[in-house]
Amino acid sequence: MSSLVTLERHGNVGVLRINNPPVNALGPELVAGLIELVGQFEADQSYRALVVCAEGRTFVAGGDIAQFSMPGFSTAPFNRMLARLEKLDRPVLAVLHGTVLGGGLELAMACHYRVAAATTRLGLPEVLLGILPGSLGTQRLPRLVGVSLALDMILSGRPIDAAKALQAGLVDRLIDGDLTAAGIAYAEELLAQRTGPRRTSDRTASVEGLAADFFEKALAEAVSKKAAYPAPQRIVRCVEAAATLDFNAGEEVEARLFEECRISPQSAAMRKLFFAERQATKIPGLPGGLKERAIASVGILGAGTMGGGIAMNFANAGIPVVIVESSQEALDRGLALVRKNYDASAAKGKMKAEEPPRRMALLTPSLRYEDLAGCDLVIEAVFENLDIKKEVAARLGKVCKPGAIIASNTSTLDVDVLAQASGRPQDFLGMHFFSPANVMRLLEIVRGAQTAPDVLATVVKLAKTIGKVPVVSGVCYGFIGNRMLEPYLRESEFLLMEGATPTQIDNAIQSLGLPMGPCRMLDMAGLDVAAKVVVERGKAGGLPTDAGYRAVVQKMLVLGRFGQKTGAGYYRYEGRNAVADPEVGKICAALATQFGIRRRDDISDQEIIERCLFPLMNEGAKILEEGISYRPGDIDLVWVNGYGFPDYRGGPMHMADETGLDKIAQRLDHYAQLRGNAYGYWDKAKLLADMSAKGQQFADWPLK
Ligand code: 3HC
Ligand code: NAI
Repeated sequence: MSSLVTLERHGNVGVLRINNPPVNALGPELVAGLIELVGQFEADQSYRALVVCAEGRTFVAGGDIAQFSMPGFSTAPFNRMLARLEKLDRPVLAVLHGTVLGGGLELAMACHYRVAAATTRLGLPEVLLGILPGSLGTQRLPRLVGVSLALDMILSGRPIDAAKALQAGLVDRLIDGDLTAAGIAYAEELLAQRTGPRRTSDRTASVEGLAADFFEKALAEAVSKKAAYPAPQRIVRCVEAAATLDFNAGEEVEARLFEECRISPQSAAMRKLFFAERQATKIPGLPGGLKERAIASVGILGAGTMGGGIAMNFANAGIPVVIVESSQEALDRGLALVRKNYDASAAKGKMKAEEPPRRMALLTPSLRYEDLAGCDLVIEAVFENLDIKKEVAARLGKVCKPGAIIASNTSTLDVDVLAQASGRPQDFLGMHFFSPANVMRLLEIVRGAQTAPDVLATVVKLAKTIGKVPVVSGVCYGFIGNRMLEPYLRESEFLLMEGATPTQIDNAIQSLGLPMGPCRMLDMAGLDVAAKVVVERGKAGGLPTDAGYRAVVQKMLVLGRFGQKTGAGYYRYEGRNAVADPEVGKICAALATQFGIRRRDDISDQEIIERCLFPLMNEGAKILEEGISYRPGDIDLVWVNGYGFPDYRGGPMHMADETGLDKIAQRLDHYAQLRGNAYGYWDKAKLLADMSAKGQQFADWPLK
């Protein structure tokens, strides 16, 4: 018999106890155990009620996601077990705690009654994996909480808390103390009152208050807003089935549509990202039993665009922050912006009215470095200038208390040089937040040559505490993300000079699901900022000798066309609306003449996609080859969480696998011929060449 679940006797109450750490996911062995023990309970009439509970930090947190990719996977055995559980002639009660998600909530809803600890969160997050609840969640939840809330929960994937679940009728009672004992007591109460089974599938889903065209509108919205995702439209159809068909017919609809989602490439990509996110926190080579440093307070230097946003992350997590600026004016401006952001969130109902003052109270503004002396971690986000940053690092090295971690938010500078400047390189690393820092989930953690293992482990863990997706990068120019962005921008500029328009380039890239193509993106970020990065890199001797390299942004800088903020860049702006500007065509044509670039009128969307993305993927391969990144999944996380790469495409490395590495290698060779390769732009990463020759994929990583 399975050791993952047991049936114990407490008087005449049976206790079905699940124990499959860490999150009690429903793998085949656990499902087999449940089937067997439900059978045992069914056959033994000396049990008068059944309590279903789980050991450890949570009730069942869902189906085992890894199983969904296995050949022959089916939800049928579990679903049949749920039907049998629900049909039992004696009351069945679920005792909930932790995160009751997906298959876990579906199990709970097949029980006749549910009690929960006050801290429990309940939800059906399948949509975030590109699937829909496939164990009758779409049929039982609307029957318990009504169509409107059910559809909202299943479409958003957002869990609700126990208080809301109680109010909505998803939970019958909140409990505390010894949860199993409380569950048994409730079961005994039911028996004493002779309250029998109460089956969810016998109920009808409430459509009270819903407009006659509710489902039509919901479907239209799912189609228009989430067209690329397989699940949302199908979820609407399943919930509509729950409201209009009998339970068995609804079950058939759900089973069919679940399977369509499960086998879709989009869901495969999203499931892979789920595991990549968990994998990314595992750092190869760190000694076991490492003790992290405690981070109870944080210091931030610079309250500009990034400093303010970074501070918000910590205040949101309840961690006090000291913010140091060089002038009172900059300090006031920075804090005013933070306050404005918080107030806007409260006004939109995204946080309670008492939250903005509570979070602002965690921020201590200062003009004195000495006030950073008590902080456990100090992050500098001052101007991107090597001399300034070196000086700042040196001052921090002296001011920060022994054992404090010092981090730089630099986007381009050498973290090892800054680490040396601090005089304590073991305490130093890069924490590269993305703008807006309070919103973007990615945190690139740059591991310096001498960063101490416990410093790295501490910051990886801290990233999770503040809700970021941490990805560790080695030291190189641009780290993982911006380094890969560089060939993408390079090619988009060459394409402009060869005759493509910004609109054509952006539309081609956006057709893949990226929210913005390269031209729109730079117009928003500021062409001046982008150009200065190129100019600075040139000064440091890091550019190819090609005079036409990134010539377009540099010309835009000279012309004062900085993008949205000056009303003109790659586009002209009417308010916030980007309008095609024929002037850009003339500028690019003149540059083409200047640099001897042949103009063409046959640039296809396919060429744009290949020329922008294949070198980006090739750079990803170089990053792996050099050990800058530990794994392809880390690179995918960077692009999905930092650059808006669509999650349903899994990231550039996953997309490279889908495209075929041999095809990418061939096309790089093709463009080397078409464009010439005097500057090595089309040189293939050795890793890519080797892998494509051997028929390998990035998914095979680590390679044997
Ligand atoms: N399947 C397989 N493994 C899972 C899992 C799942 N549903 N949920 C979590 N895990 C694993 C993680 O991969 C991780 O493994 P590792 O230690 O080897 O890296 C471990 O459990 C711990 O997970 P986290 O690091 O994420 O732990 P947290 O405490 O931060 O979060 C959690 C816990 C909130 C439960 C989070 O893991 C989570 O959101 N899990 C996914 C929940 C989910 O999507 N459930 C629905 C699944 S689909 C389903 O049920 C289909 C059904 O309708 C048929
Ligand atoms: P910013 O110019 O908006 O802010 C810098 C702030 O630092 C200013 O308010 C300035 O007064 C302050 N400052 C300068 N020297 C100081 C000193 N010695 N002591 C205290 N404060 C000082 O710059 P931004 O955009 O916030 O960038 C900061 C850092 O973040 C840079 O390293 C940049 O490369 C990096 N970064 C920026 C991103 C962006 O999109 N803006 C994205 C990711 C990283």
